[in-house]
Amino acid sequence: MSATDWWQRGIIYHIYPRSFQDSNADGVGDLAGIRRRLDYLGWLGVDALWISPIYPSPMTDFGYDVSDYCDIDPLFGTLAEFDALVKAVKARGLKLVLDLVPNHTSDRHPWFVESRTNRHNAKRDWYIWRDPGPGGGAPNNWLSNFGGSAWEFDRATGQYFYHAFLKEQPDLNWRNREVRDAIYDVMRFWLERGVDGFRVDVIWHLMKDAGFRDNPPNPAYQQGRPEIERLLQLHSADQPEVHGVIAEMRRLIERYPGRVLIGEIYLPLDRLVRYYGEDLSGAHLPFNFQLIQAGWNARTLASMIKEYEAALPNGGWPNWVLGNHDQHRVATRIGPQQARVAAMLLLTLRGTPTLYYGDEIGMEDVPIPTGSARDPWQLREPGLGVGRDPQRTPMQWDDSANAGFTTGTPWLPLSSNYAKCNVEKLAASEGSILRLYRDLIDLRHRFPALSTGGFRLLTEGGDILAYERFDENECFEVYLNLSREVQRLDEKVSSRAPPEKRTLMLSTHGRRESDFHAPRRSLEGGEGVIYKMRR
Ligand code: NOJ
Repeated sequence: MSATDWWQRGIIYHIYPRSFQDSNADGVGDLAGIRRRLDYLGWLGVDALWISPIYPSPMTDFGYDVSDYCDIDPLFGTLAEFDALVKAVKARGLKLVLDLVPNHTSDRHPWFVESRTNRHNAKRDWYIWRDPGPGGGAPNNWLSNFGGSAWEFDRATGQYFYHAFLKEQPDLNWRNREVRDAIYDVMRFWLERGVDGFRVDVIWHLMKDAGFRDNPPNPAYQQGRPEIERLLQLHSADQPEVHGVIAEMRRLIERYPGRVLIGEIYLPLDRLVRYYGEDLSGAHLPFNFQLIQAGWNARTLASMIKEYEAALPNGGWPNWVLGNHDQHRVATRIGPQQARVAAMLLLTLRGTPTLYYGDEIGMEDVPIPTGSARDPWQLREPGLGVGRDPQRTPMQWDDSANAGFTTGTPWLPLSSNYAKCNVEKLAASEGSILRLYRDLIDLRHRFPALSTGGFRLLTEGGDILAYERFDENECFEVYLNLSREVQRLDEKVSSRAPPEKRTLMLSTHGRRESDFHAPRRSLEGGEGVIYKMRR
């Protein structure tokens, strides 16, 4: 592995395909729509697209319930359209990462249809079937991530099958060799078609406890939280054997030079970093969601970054994610002003950044009227705020009808602010969040110190988060004011260079070096700046 693989230098842009661009007026985004918008992504400057699942699916979990791993759902297009997308992506020097969903299939997948016909068919062991527990109930206490038992009784064959998510998403049995080989065939199918890697859905779920022991209760469970939190997921996921499976995937990927293996993993830091694998035989990038989960203040972020850097195995490449289709939008979580600071943080940290479509224009969660919810989790556990529709609403391109997303009826409502908050308007407006994103991306590309260079924290406390990025050619200092108040710049900051040596490269507030006659000694509330140090 060279120190400058594209997935280390590059920026990943996550597209939720249903909501990016519709091209056939059915109200749902599609592959032709994505192709149409590649110019925009080129203008923005990102390097790779990761597209959430586009395979044939009954769409009970909007594509995370796959019924055929080697085709394209008609809603999104055809294999020919996919090939055209690959070609267009490559022509622009971009990369394409697909979502691989190996933990479970749809219950309509032919494998499961066969598996449930009787107890003795060739696919029975491809899924997780168990006899009822002693009282005739579920085999153990495991819960579905979307609420309720994770076991569904199948009357016809008198056994339960396991589903970590919906009952329409039965889990595959990864202890079965044929299952592994079947999914590896799927990976080869797409790699041969030119994809540059996979984001592997719930990779930490692939292996379950061989003895199916009950999960222990979670002593910290609070009423009003999702049901899955009642138990600690000790035996139902993150089993030691999972690393052997991931190493197999990695070996397969390595046969295709320049491809990347990304794992979706929600685990505490010490367990997360194990997914780099022994001697880096695991995922290239175990997704790091701490920017989504951490308290948004300078002290917490500083210690989180420090701990993450310290926990990385030798040679393990860091990565940072600001948002995704399962999490509330960053501008909603921390507010529009801090969303700019977050952009600067994401794009100046050491490691691969992943940004979620629409965050670059400051899109916020869109309230979904009761009765219009589409997300199955929201429908199963209403009233808890777990719904994921608000962060999946259509991309806002311009101020025409439906923000230019569709000429039909959009599958989810658009934000009421789209006349002001859209790509066309913000691209033309100096000082907009979109222009900030573009400038940050440009700066990161121009100076490798900001992507592959070293990292040193300059602060431990206070309201400013400051750090240095450097390589043998350049040194940058990044100062982020996490508070609303003006903050003195030099307080508690252990900068190596005097203020006179700083050249302002970028400010979240659109300030320029020429705006100041003397070196600045303070930051506005919610302001972030990047300085380049003169030698
Ligand atoms: C994680 C995906 O990101 C989420 O959207 C999905 O519901 C679950 N996995 C189940 O596949």
